[in-house]
Amino acid sequence: MILITGAQGQIGIDLADFLVERHGKGHVLVTDLRTPENLRPDRLYDVLDVTYMESVEKIIEAHNVHTIYHLAGILSATGEKHPELAWNVNVNGVRNILEAARRYKCRVFWPSSIAVFGPTTPKVNTPQETVTEPGTMYGATKVTGELLCKFHATHHDVDVRSVRFPGIISHAAPPGGGTTDWAVDMFVQAVKTGEYTCFVTEDTRLPMMYMPDAVKSVLDLMDAEQANITVRTSYNLTAFSFSAGELAAAIQKHIPEFTCSYEPDFRQDIADTWPASINDSRARADWDWAPEYDLDAMVTDMLYHVREKVSRSEF
Ligand code: SER
Repeated sequence: MILITGAQGQIGIDLADFLVERHGKGHVLVTDLRTPENLRPDRLYDVLDVTYMESVEKIIEAHNVHTIYHLAGILSATGEKHPELAWNVNVNGVRNILEAARRYKCRVFWPSSIAVFGPTTPKVNTPQETVTEPGTMYGATKVTGELLCKFHATHHDVDVRSVRFPGIISHAAPPGGGTTDWAVDMFVQAVKTGEYTCFVTEDTRLPMMYMPDAVKSVLDLMDAEQANITVRTSYNLTAFSFSAGELAAAIQKHIPEFTCSYEPDFRQDIADTWPASINDSRARADWDWAPEYDLDAMVTDMLYHVREKVSRSEF
């Protein structure tokens, strides 16, 4: 059985669909703190709080789990407001999953983030191996998680694989509590109201990726030969970088009347410490990572899907 934790989150919703398509009905167990209102017949559901080791072990044993996609986590903006919660969910959660993976011989995917980088990291074309002194609690939990992954891989032979995701843009599930949420919110507001007040400045530039590529990266990484995996902390990964102003301009090509204004809040301080662009050459070399969507292709596809959802009043 394949186990997904945090399955109702931004990545979990999309990844579950792909895993069900690939492995078939009855092979994917989706878990979160709550079960969703509309259950789908092609997957199994359960409730799991990853901060409780007993619950993690119970579920792995009961369902004969062999692979875990551990997505349960608190994002950066929420983490700054609730640092203890972020530490508990992000660090104790990944520690429980890794320890259970050791005992029950499971493979693990776990997402890290560009938030492991901080003000002392080179901002442009940030290398794989560089300073990781984050300025946020979220970043601290991700650095700790990466080191735990490396420890379990080297000391206990756990096949745990990870990527440092950039901001992820998607339409199936909205992100919650992240610093890069503006890149999703802008689409929704452009379609719904024709205007958006962005919480970072126009020239704030961050690395980003469209969800289909994020899912592809997870599947490609987990499919790669074990011998090719040379990074056991977490792989740098990116698709493209854009500033808030550049995204607004790309949307205006489709919706000329769209206007965007800028009122930075506390999330600006977080964004300012993150890289503007990422060097992901190790992922490209080790497991042939290559994104399919560039900025324009992503914008066209996002607008199509967001319009559909808005017309059905789902956004
Ligand atoms: N997109 C995430 C956030 O903004 C970063 O991992 O928190």
